[in-house]
Amino acid sequence: MSKELRSRGWFGKTGKDGFIYRAWMKNQGIPSYEFEGRPVIGICNTWSELTPCNAHFRELAESVRRGILEAGGFPVEFPVMSLGETLIKPTAMLYRNLVSMDVEESIRANPMDGVVLLCGCDKTTPSLVMGACSVNIPSLVVSGGPMLTGKYKGKDIGTSDVWRFSEAVRSGSMSEEEMTVAEACMCRSRGHCAVMGTASTMASMVESLGLSLPGNAAIPAADSRRKVLAQMSGIRIVEMVKENLRLSDVLTRKAFENAIMVNAAIGGSTNFVLHLLAIAGRIGVPLDMEDFDKLSHNIPLLANLQPSGKYFMEDMYYAGGLPALMKEMEQWLHKECITVNGKTIGENIAEAECYNRDVIAENKNPFNDVSALAVLKGNVCENGAVIKPSAASPHLFKHTGKAVVFESIEDYKKRIDDPDLDVDEHCVLVLKNVGPAGYPGMPEVGNMGLPKKVLAKGVTDMVRISDGRMSGTGFGTVVLHVSPEAAVGGNLAVIQDGDMITLDVEKRSLHVDVTDEELAERKRKKSIPPSPFTRGYVNLFVRHVEQAHLGVDLDFLKGSSGSEVTRDSH
Ligand code: FES
Repeated sequence: MSKELRSRGWFGKTGKDGFIYRAWMKNQGIPSYEFEGRPVIGICNTWSELTPCNAHFRELAESVRRGILEAGGFPVEFPVMSLGETLIKPTAMLYRNLVSMDVEESIRANPMDGVVLLCGCDKTTPSLVMGACSVNIPSLVVSGGPMLTGKYKGKDIGTSDVWRFSEAVRSGSMSEEEMTVAEACMCRSRGHCAVMGTASTMASMVESLGLSLPGNAAIPAADSRRKVLAQMSGIRIVEMVKENLRLSDVLTRKAFENAIMVNAAIGGSTNFVLHLLAIAGRIGVPLDMEDFDKLSHNIPLLANLQPSGKYFMEDMYYAGGLPALMKEMEQWLHKECITVNGKTIGENIAEAECYNRDVIAENKNPFNDVSALAVLKGNVCENGAVIKPSAASPHLFKHTGKAVVFESIEDYKKRIDDPDLDVDEHCVLVLKNVGPAGYPGMPEVGNMGLPKKVLAKGVTDMVRISDGRMSGTGFGTVVLHVSPEAAVGGNLAVIQDGDMITLDVEKRSLHVDVTDEELAERKRKKSIPPSPFTRGYVNLFVRHVEQAHLGVDLDFLKGSSGSEVTRDSH
């Protein structure tokens, strides 16, 4: 043990304070000897029946607890706010930073020497990692695992099919009844979305950063080996406390670079950019949008997973999981990075094998040469925007079209299927005021559905631009995260119907053919209305949220306050 356990500042005390710190804990039937110097390990649980992707976490926590006990630790499970992507209105992203505060303060305020973070549904991973980074005690992530692949009429289905089914119903090629049947076929087991959506991207992110045991990203939630990984993680966190292996030891600049390169190879969600920037901001590692473009540029797409490819996370696991994919990337990765199991990335992937080359391609014969992430610059997005070329249509990579502008998501919903809307497949759909401050919370509406009359021609993709996000399961030629957003006066705010917009993915540019003078004049005439949110968390969020190119964290949450609490409670 390199230094006295943090928990001794509670349980190691004598007199009245020690009595109070221990006595109430003893009402849970904990014997006195457990308070005599065992590492106290928090199990940070995002279990909730309102977060179906994490609904199995009470059982998973039991496996972690077994591991902690086995290694001589003292497990203490505690709940934090849980973010279920499918139910929370107006968007779970609005609350990511709130949860990170809950996690940070819960860890710091309590007698914990180490913590296991139970993460699953999209935002539950970044929020827990962000909060833990701002305390920086030994921490390890256990992800909940993906669902088993959905089965519908003999076909494999997953969350990306939601968008296909929805467009099929709108174009008349699928009935509402068929869609209801599909609804019961898709989510047929415990776990999070089975494609390479944001949850799987986040589980891969923590594994490539070195924050989980190897294999964490892909073991299905329903597979008994997920519980084995949880128990092993419980054992390991106790050792990490003894070694004082903290988040800042693992989360180096090189670890972030590894995560960006792995994200490119798996075709990860565009949400990855926002969350990784926010995590870097908490742990104090410099990272910017250019890093994502530069580091992703030469990495081929190796994982043949939806929405960029064909398969599901279950297939990824059977093919060898993330270690097999990372093995294929070893020429690019920083193999010396230390991970939570005390070994380097290089050691962790040394024996990894791929069992299915149709799922994980060889680097000399990639599944797709097209990058999974490109960062665009131009006068539409002065501080940047992102696109996922691997899930877009190559014929639209270079495209000029007339803007069809929607001032809000409500405006879009009201007019998109209007037969009189002046739109065809060559136009560029522009959606404003769905950014971090404008919505608020930056919802996943950026892959807006195409106009019915365009769909009726059999067209399945158009260029779409917004200051919002897209579900990691979404696809299409969709430009997202435009920064600055319309609501804070970015050029996006003054783009008008009929303006000609050029997207050039290869040149990384997004340009509207309007002069700087004209844009300035339009801005002069346009006043930004004050935020209607005057109380509560949303008021705090709107006043302090940073733009997409900085990670959408609250400005005052950047960095760490450490783990020390200098004043006692009684
Ligand atoms: Fe929870 Fe997709 S809805 S991971």
